[in-house]
Amino acid sequence: MDKYIISGGRRLEGGVRIQTAKNSVLPILAASVLTDEPVTVLNVPDITDVRNMVRILGCLGCSARYSGNDIIIDSSSADNCEIPRALAHELRSSVFLLGSVISRFCKAKIAYPGGCDIGLRPVDLHLTGLKRLGVEITESNGYINCVCDKLAGNEIMLDCPSVGATENIMLAAVKAEGVTTIKNAAREPEIEDLQNFLNSMGAKVRGAGTGTVVIEGVQKLGGSVYQPIADRIEAGTFLIAAAMCGGDVELSGVNAENLSSLLHKLRENGCKLRIKNDKIYIKSDKRPVSVKSVETQPYPGFPTDLQAQMTALCCVCAGNSIIAENLFETRFKYVPELRKMGADITVIDRCAFVRGVEKLKGAAVVAHDLRGGAALVIAALAAEGDSEVLDISHIDRGYSGFEYKLSSLGAKIKRVGI
Ligand code: EPZ
Repeated sequence: MDKYIISGGRRLEGGVRIQTAKNSVLPILAASVLTDEPVTVLNVPDITDVRNMVRILGCLGCSARYSGNDIIIDSSSADNCEIPRALAHELRSSVFLLGSVISRFCKAKIAYPGGCDIGLRPVDLHLTGLKRLGVEITESNGYINCVCDKLAGNEIMLDCPSVGATENIMLAAVKAEGVTTIKNAAREPEIEDLQNFLNSMGAKVRGAGTGTVVIEGVQKLGGSVYQPIADRIEAGTFLIAAAMCGGDVELSGVNAENLSSLLHKLRENGCKLRIKNDKIYIKSDKRPVSVKSVETQPYPGFPTDLQAQMTALCCVCAGNSIIAENLFETRFKYVPELRKMGADITVIDRCAFVRGVEKLKGAAVVAHDLRGGAALVIAALAAEGDSEVLDISHIDRGYSGFEYKLSSLGAKIKRVGI
């Protein structure tokens, strides 16, 4: 298990190019199972979740290989509809494959998916949606077994705007007979990206980004060469790091539109922001002022995937803040680690009450999940003195070249294998 050794207290200055979005690439790789034509996904980040998805595609009989920074998938030889338990546990997004695999084989078998330890993460909305399309589902000894004669379009109303359920139903519906309408669909930019990818293969999907997605089933899909959108969560992580450490940082290859809720908060913190085309420039020259409250919400609200990073920033603001986590049950596992650095945080139910302190102190801390781990790294960068962040394999799931990008901004951070 590798760890980071960090010497904190340095300003961040310079430019960083943002990676392609992990949460776009994963459903797009799952969607590649829907066609026998080759699919190329461009500039894919080299992260563990993507590598595991490539391994799962291999288990299904697809050929999936890296070519430079791109991934080329040929599913013409796909011949297996079962996703192995070990891989399903590694990767929450393995559940997206249900829709694609059922569409291809009229059956699928998958162990309950794993993922970050941030909450219950049920899949009931995925399964209810698939049943509405004609899938029969049984669950036995930790496996979900799906079978259908054919997939038929239908109207589906989601109890909550689940990203994964919206994507899974889209994947199952693109080649179903007739029209599928998903109401109360998730509106994240990654949903619109998946729609654009599917349409680049010849699907007929519209409405992604609104609350209603309409999919007109087609007989066949072709291949595609596709560049997914930039990773708004990686971008937000770097912006919060600059706000917390102080500095002048320019992000490139990013769409500021997808980050408006965070940009609004950073302005409230007193940061100077300038946006031009695909660049966001942030300047933070004095101690940030606290935002009174942050409430995570489905898009376009404040993203839950930036909650931990924002809480870390609140720890060094002048004033107090309340952070409410409305999507996941246990997404504050990083808080005891921040307390080791001198943070003044009290968590009650799904709310963190933060009293800002002048400075955090370096400490040895442990990452428990992807975004909580990233929050600990930026807290250590801002802290006085040296820190160690252990179990950084969690961070490797979603950030490619994290320490290189931070070092290029002047951070003193080193990866050590243990
Ligand atoms: C996606 O997870 C993202 N993962 C998550 O990012 C992100 O935090 C989440 O959406 C919310 O934006 C990927 O895209 C690979 P949900 P997903 O279904 O699809 C409840 C990261 O750090 N729910 O939108 O699993 C669920 O319990 C990861 O990159 C049900 O009740 O999230 C949660 O409260 C972490 N039943 C809420 O919906 C279901 O069947 C949102 O979950 C499904 C979800």
